[in-house]
Amino acid sequence: MPIIQFQNVSKFYEKKGAVLDFNLKVEKGERVVILGHSGCGKTTVLRLLAGFVPPDRGKILIDNEVVSIDGKILKEPEERNIGMVFQDLALWPHMTVRQNLEFGLKARGIKKEEREKRIKQILKLTQIEEFENKKPSKLSGGQQQRVALARALVLHPKILLMDEPLSSLDFELNIRLRREILKLQKEIGFTLLYVTHNREEAFDIASRIIIMRNGKILKEGSPEEAKIYFEQILKTVKI
Ligand SMILES: Nc1ncnc2c1ncn2[C@@H]1O[C@H](COP(=O)(O)OP(=O)(O)O)[C@@H](O)[C@H]1O
Ligand SMILES: [Mg+2]
Repeated sequence: MPIIQFQNVSKFYEKKGAVLDFNLKVEKGERVVILGHSGCGKTTVLRLLAGFVPPDRGKILIDNEVVSIDGKILKEPEERNIGMVFQDLALWPHMTVRQNLEFGLKARGIKKEEREKRIKQILKLTQIEEFENKKPSKLSGGQQQRVALARALVLHPKILLMDEPLSSLDFELNIRLRREILKLQKEIGFTLLYVTHNREEAFDIASRIIIMRNGKILKEGSPEEAKIYFEQILKTVKI
């Protein structure tokens, strides 16, 4: 049974389709990367799944339950058990790392003992134990990235959405964090939906790649199939 399903989903902004007749099934534990140029609808797909916007047409299911349908949100974002990490990390600047992690746990009414256990575990997994009592502004870009990851994962989401999370990092750090995301996904086992316009990043992270263009799926397949597809496109372009 797929954990995520989009069935004939369309989303319009002022009559222009951002996502058009979009169909996607994701199995539990997959790492699906949505790859495409700026403006092709990648972020909109994530926002639809998170429940921030309703689809104008079509159906979205999580764990076989309809969560959004034909202009309506049936299940609110906070009930969807989805974690999110975006390019601008939106860490709370006035809170320490620990407070950033604890906030969502408290909001969900999780008891002190369980909060402590989870925070300790995730600080260790994301290798930020030593920054526990620091404010985000005192940390480097890569460290802040790990805090954003930890803050999402401490809530034990079954699905993690990442929207261009590494785009602002330099090349070496970008590659290192790819490795860390893969390791965490293996250890924790969440289903990953990852958005990027960077092919190398997609090849590295994905178990399956969805290539999007103009709100639609142009091609989908394994990273190897995606590579062959791009190589063939290059061959057809005559210079
Ligand atoms: N809130 C919005 N209001 C109006 N147009 C939007 C809004 N969000 C996205 N769009 C438009 O929808 C299309 C897809 O956007 P988006 O999903 O952000 O693409 P991507 O993430 O691939 O860059 C773009 O043409 C964008 O301008
Ligand atoms: Mg985007």
